Amino acid sequence: METGASPVRTVRKPVIVAIDGPSGTGKSSTSKAVASQLGLSYLDTGAQYRAMTWWMITNGVDVNDAGAVATAAGKPALVSGTDPANPTVTVDGADAAAPIRTQEVTSRVSAVSAVPEVRTVLTELQRSIAASAAEGIVVEGRDIGTTVLPDADLKIFLTASPEARAARRSGELKGKEAVDVSATQEALVKRDAADSTRKTSPLAKAGDAVEVDTTDLTLQQVIECVVTLVEEKRAAG
Ligand code: DC
Repeated sequence: METGASPVRTVRKPVIVAIDGPSGTGKSSTSKAVASQLGLSYLDTGAQYRAMTWWMITNGVDVNDAGAVATAAGKPALVSGTDPANPTVTVDGADAAAPIRTQEVTSRVSAVSAVPEVRTVLTELQRSIAASAAEGIVVEGRDIGTTVLPDADLKIFLTASPEARAARRSGELKGKEAVDVSATQEALVKRDAADSTRKTSPLAKAGDAVEVDTTDLTLQQVIECVVTLVEEKRAAG
């Protein structure tokens, strides 16, 4: 029979981490690694905007017709798997992992994500996924700290020079398609400009976000920096 005092179990409140920034700053690699190291869930909201765009294209919706996109926004059934070791996204039950990374989707996703009705549908979905993560979650995107989860425990805004971002994105594409670094940089800068200037929840740094310039950092250094910030928050709160 046990006689000693029962061990004290500390129940930790789920931690919500928002990671925003333009493309090519290492958001996805950092977010997945931080979530894995800390035992948290992971959500790639860009993949959801891409999945919505893929659905519009395959269902014959003209992505440049904002009214048509708005009317269709509630139709696709999007499901995101939040295991950082195997993040998934399905649309109407179909695996969207490969088709959402095509050039066709990449070139149209900014137009679809500028439509307020699309943002309303996906913001609601993102909030419900975050609320149901038992241990907490790392959510990456463009408007997570400003709009989706303004009460996040920690907000990070990743930046990097356009040259560094284009070089990284080109590295990711290598092997999949012919890569022209200057064309990649041009496309990336154009997409960021569209994402930053749209009316509804543009790409922006939240006032209380910690900005991390990743230009001269290795991925490992960025991951360590964010893990330390999360641990400090947890210790303080
Ligand atoms: O992170 P990504 O490159 O896969 O995102 C694809 C597009 O989705 C990006 O150009 C802008 C849009 N997006 C958005 O508007 N809001 C988010 N929270 C995430 C992505």
